[in-house]
Amino acid sequence: MALVELTDVVKRYGSNTVLNGVSLTVEPGEIIAVIGRSGSGKSTLLRCINGLEPIQQGRIVFDGTVVNDPGTNLRALRQRVGIVFQSYNLFPHLSVEKNITLAPRVVKGMEPGAARELAGRVLARVGLAEKIDAYPDQLSGGQQQRVAIARSLAMQPQLMLFDEITSALDPELTGEVLKVLELMAREGMTMMLVTHEMGFARRVATRLIFMHEGRIWEEGRASEVLSKPRTPELETFLDAVLH
Ligand SMILES: Nc1ncnc2c1ncn2[C@@H]1O[C@H](COP(=O)(O)OP(=O)(O)O)[C@@H](O)[C@H]1O
Ligand SMILES: [Mg+2]
Repeated sequence: MALVELTDVVKRYGSNTVLNGVSLTVEPGEIIAVIGRSGSGKSTLLRCINGLEPIQQGRIVFDGTVVNDPGTNLRALRQRVGIVFQSYNLFPHLSVEKNITLAPRVVKGMEPGAARELAGRVLARVGLAEKIDAYPDQLSGGQQQRVAIARSLAMQPQLMLFDEITSALDPELTGEVLKVLELMAREGMTMMLVTHEMGFARRVATRLIFMHEGRIWEEGRASEVLSKPRTPELETFLDAVLH
């Protein structure tokens, strides 16, 4: 069974149609890279999938749960769908451990000892086990972003959504964050990521989606979509990002 299924999804802000009939199926273990111009609806797509934004038409199903059903418990859904943004949103006054364990303790009622152990485990997965007692301002931007990823992993999501998580980072810090994503991909995590890192998309993504004007304009294997654009819109976009 598909993990995520979108059928003819329409999302509007007032009279502005931001998603204009998006249909998409994501199988478990897929790594979907989403590219496209600013304003093409990439962030909105991710936000609709984990129920942060209501939709006006169509249907979104996550692992059998209809996300846009008014009766759906969105808090429970969001525990199963992690999302990480460009700005890491760590609490500056909390240690790395506390940032990571806040949700498991509050939402799942986890004991402090078990929570610290969990923090250690997810930090190890992002290569930061030794930073468990550090505070966010003692970490580089790349390290903070990796803590944000660890914080999401602590909820044991079935799907991870990443929205341009390396866009604010220097190139050398971008690499360390992408490495963590690559490791998660190899471990079988299902992921959708909005990214400008075409090399990464080519290497790691199982599928690439090009969004344009609120639609999936092209999709397919990253190597094929990137080397043989079928539409002038994708060609123009690639010219702009690759040169
Ligand atoms: N909260 C919002 N309220 C009104 N319009 C929004 C909101 N969020 C996004 N939009 C509009 O939706 C369109 C798509 O935005 P977005 O999904 O952020 O695009 P992308 O991530 O591809 O740059 C843009 O025209 C943007 O101005
Ligand atoms: Mg965006």
